[in-house]
Amino acid sequence: TNRTFTMIKPDAVEAGNIGNILKMITDGGFKIVAMKLTHLSETDAKKFYAVHAARPFYGELVEFMSRGPIVAAILEKENAVEDFRALIGATNPAEAAEGTIRKAYAKSIGENAVHGSDSDENAAIEAAFHFAGREIF
Ligand code: GTP
Ligand code: MG
Repeated sequence: TNRTFTMIKPDAVEAGNIGNILKMITDGGFKIVAMKLTHLSETDAKKFYAVHAARPFYGELVEFMSRGPIVAAILEKENAVEDFRALIGATNPAEAAEGTIRKAYAKSIGENAVHGSDSDENAAIEAAFHFAGREIF
């Protein structure tokens, strides 16, 4: 058993898809061990996505991720990081497989509904960015 970190991004919260996405997550065998409705300030979004700072879409990404509330959560499952990346689908929803969260709810390569950590190491860093120990069960 291990853990990954996810965010339901502002586009999906705005569209009223929190419940639909949480259902896909729990139906996919993930247990929610931490969760909150929260918000990334511009400074937070810059820090969270610092790894993408050199990319041409960085400014757009920071503006998008800070424009409204998000749901942050920690998910538990065997092989959590890899299995969750499979459940969310390709970054670009046009390339996302049938049955994935992004196929169902993402609007574009930028506004793509959900985040999933890309390694165990980053999952731990991202979880600690959002949650205090007492909020994790
Ligand atoms: P995350 O789970 O959110 O990290 O997505 P990912 O791992 O599938 O993609 P990546 O880490 O490469 O990019 C992070 C985020 O930047 C994406 O999820 C998009 O929201 C955004 N992004 C990536 N490529 C583009 C792009 O070409 N244009 C725009 N506007 N945003 C992009
Ligand atoms: Mg990524």
